[in-house]
Amino acid sequence: MPTLLVTGGAGFIGTNFIRHLLTVRPAWRLVNLDALTYAGNAANLDDLAARMPARYRFVLGDINDTDLLARILAEEKPQGVVHFAAESHVDRSIVGPLAFVDTNITGTARLLMICREAWEHDGRPSDFRFLHVSTDEVYGSLGPTGYFTETTAYDPSSPYSASKAASDHLVRAWHRTYNFPAMITNCSNNYGPYQFPEKLIPLMILNIIEKKELPVYGDGGNVRDWLYVIDHCEALTAVLERGKAGQTYNIGGGAERRNIDVVRQLCALLDQRLGRTANGQSSRLIRFVGDRPGHDRRYAIDAAKIKAELGWAPRFQFEEAMAATVDWYLAHREWIESIRSGEYRRWIASHYGSIDSAVG
Ligand code: NAD
Ligand code: DAU
Repeated sequence: MPTLLVTGGAGFIGTNFIRHLLTVRPAWRLVNLDALTYAGNAANLDDLAARMPARYRFVLGDINDTDLLARILAEEKPQGVVHFAAESHVDRSIVGPLAFVDTNITGTARLLMICREAWEHDGRPSDFRFLHVSTDEVYGSLGPTGYFTETTAYDPSSPYSASKAASDHLVRAWHRTYNFPAMITNCSNNYGPYQFPEKLIPLMILNIIEKKELPVYGDGGNVRDWLYVIDHCEALTAVLERGKAGQTYNIGGGAERRNIDVVRQLCALLDQRLGRTANGQSSRLIRFVGDRPGHDRRYAIDAAKIKAELGWAPRFQFEEAMAATVDWYLAHREWIESIRSGEYRRWIASHYGSIDSAVG
């Protein structure tokens, strides 16, 4: 049974990826190494551990723990590594950048080092792949036109995107210097089930449900290119199976939206779902608040390469997948309560202050 090592699999995209891959590749076994920071939740995958113990193993640990990494690689001899583990929230990187350096840069370097040692020890198997999951934010900010391609110069704005840019450079260096069979994906904003409610879409969904104010940064005109997380999982599977070592693939949803339009759409959807009949009821909760420092204006991905070379294109329409996401949050109130730990409450209180209170 081919085995894959996944790092950061208890987070948002990792959880969706593990569930997806175990379904579409019944012959695969997955080992999930996760440090369970505030953003990780092993319970997301508890049912898998119970239902298919031979195909799913959870290991609690840090990618900076080189002894642990070496032990897992020796035990499991994975055919590939999919590296999600990261500090991922831009606002937190502005308040506390060092955690981003420790995990995203140093942690990635340690993981590359140990994976390369194991790959060489095993005789450099030609079908081994290391897939580094990165972000479009490494490219910086676009004006009203144009798209990021795989050759766009790196120009990161936040400590988060700078740390991801550094990790991409390390991955590329491992390929050029050691011939290590690594690949990079740079993806746009994801949304879907299991996303931690510090990010725009789940934060707004929960605040609308609870009639709390909806904090929109700046003028709300910043544009993101939204991708449903299952589309991302399918793209990662294609890269893992058919991507070429040393290559970079951009992944995007082709669904550019202004933040204010996303928030208004969520208000309308939830008003309908919750039977809030007075027209525009939830949109009255919208508050324009101070802007994020260094806030990138627009992201937009040119995904022509992955389409031409690997045949991947997004399958889900934004409106349809957004409605499915809203329904998932409405149906999983117990999940929301379980991740709203003391740490989460402290972050919301310190970042949003008095805006985090019910007004309806
Ligand atoms: P997330 O914050 O939801 O999950 C991160 C996971 O990594 C958590 O389970 C956490 O416990 C784990 N982790 C953190 N530090 C660790 C460490 N030192 N050792 C082991 N595990 C650790 O993040 P996400 O949104 O699922 O993003 C996953 C990856 O995809 C990240 O690398 C991110 O940069 C990238 N990405 C995210 C998006 C997006 O829209 N969310 C888009 C493009 C790329
Ligand atoms: O582009 C890919 C990136 O997308 C990933 O690499 C990151 O890990 C992921 O967090 C995401 O980054 P963003 O900063 O774009 O996502 P976030 O959900 O934090 O913000 C989306 C937009 O919404 C952004 O323009 C800031 C704005 N925003 C966000 C929050 C949390 C608000 O207006 N109000 C808010 O309260």
